[in-house]
Amino acid sequence: MQTTRAVLAIDQGTTNSKAVLVSADGSVLGVGSAGVRVDNPAPGWVQQDAEQIWASVLAAVADAGTAAGGSVAAVALSTQRESVLAWRRSSGDPIGPLLGWQDRRTADWCTEVLGAEPDAERVVAAGTGLRIDPMFSAPKLRWLLDHRPADVPLDDVCVGTVDAWLIWRLTGGHVHATDAGNASRTLLYDVGALAWSGELCRIFGVPGSVLPRACRSDAGFGTTLGVPGVADGTPVAAVLADSHAALLGQGGESPGLVKATYGTGTSVMTPVAGYRPARTDVPLTLAWLTDAPCYALEGNILSSGAALDWTARLLGQDSVGDLLELAQSVPDAGGVQLLPAFTGLGAPHWDRAVRASLTGITQATAPAHVARAAVDAVAQQICDIVDVIAADGTPVRVLRADGGATRSSLLMQTQADLLGVTVEVADVAEVSAVGAAKLAWRSLGAGASWRQAPPARTYTPGIGPDVRAERRQEWRMNLDAARRSADRP
Ligand code: G3P
Repeated sequence: MQTTRAVLAIDQGTTNSKAVLVSADGSVLGVGSAGVRVDNPAPGWVQQDAEQIWASVLAAVADAGTAAGGSVAAVALSTQRESVLAWRRSSGDPIGPLLGWQDRRTADWCTEVLGAEPDAERVVAAGTGLRIDPMFSAPKLRWLLDHRPADVPLDDVCVGTVDAWLIWRLTGGHVHATDAGNASRTLLYDVGALAWSGELCRIFGVPGSVLPRACRSDAGFGTTLGVPGVADGTPVAAVLADSHAALLGQGGESPGLVKATYGTGTSVMTPVAGYRPARTDVPLTLAWLTDAPCYALEGNILSSGAALDWTARLLGQDSVGDLLELAQSVPDAGGVQLLPAFTGLGAPHWDRAVRASLTGITQATAPAHVARAAVDAVAQQICDIVDVIAADGTPVRVLRADGGATRSSLLMQTQADLLGVTVEVADVAEVSAVGAAKLAWRSLGAGASWRQAPPARTYTPGIGPDVRAERRQEWRMNLDAARRSADRP
């Protein structure tokens, strides 16, 4: 039975909700989880059921055994970003679906906004550091407002990202608030002024009255009411977006450390010193706001775990684990290159027209070479982002890695080889939840007890600068060729 005081960190992701009990020194005392459904009712549409998300959070909390013993000192949140929903202020009932971050139903509308207001792209980039894209919240918010039932007046509408929804439900409908880091992913929040922007709200047609209060990440977001397993009156102490929470969980609070979360895609993020003008290849993000804002550069790779999955299927392997074992059986890719641009390229190239390719095949090519090329492709894409970060003037001392694919020693060693810096693999699977808990303990005044977990494994570069430069050059040449031959409208 768990008796130590713990922060209950809820990590609400796209496919899973986790509840993680974290003590003041950073130890994970218990973990509960529950799956979440993702629906695709039409091509490009990705939506979720907000009530099901809330139910999954309650199920995860029950699974973590909060009621079994000990006490919950505070609740902390780490949430999927950009996904948004609307609900009724009067009843707390969702209005329509939660539109997921991958949802692209507003792609045409985004093009229309750009067409109607040629300056919009520049204004949005200057205010938010981001480009106009259906991934971000504002176009989806506009869609939700336009498609709400006729009998729901605007003054009965609340909107918000997933953190705002969970804060609302955790506090029994008393608090409508969001953290500044989540707000920074909506296209409506000015990351320099640290406030919602009237100009951006006008561009996207979202009235400021429906938005949550945008707060410091450690502001205190009210207290719990009616949450099974959590005593009423427990403070909701800290709220972070999940990638941002992973950066904090990895100890990334000052420049020099880059974190990479290897999932279906990969989020590569590094803190930078102070606000700087937006760059669009690896955009600026507000990671969190406490006594001061912590800005970060973040690049998102669209296909990394997805590239391993695809290659495993192509080669008839039962799992990615089997693919990685196959890749390990050869010393290199034998000249084969995979460019996993299945949905185009994300950061830092941002080229949706490029198509995936498999090149360099000869009669001597074996399935193991293709497997090895997939591993190389995951690592090379991360190097492309780190190169931009380094060229931007941020020194890169170490890459801290988390996520499922970090279990592969071959991938992690390849990453260290191609980057030329040390790669450290996180010891805990729940890095985002741990990051949110860390901020909550600080806000409770117990931050001094925190012990940053040492890495589980460390990889140092095993090739020299010449070989590294040659392999990077081969990758770049292949990428340039693919971009040149892309079919553009
Ligand atoms: O930007 C989207 C990201 O926050 C989603 O996170 O953990 O659901 O893949 P996750």
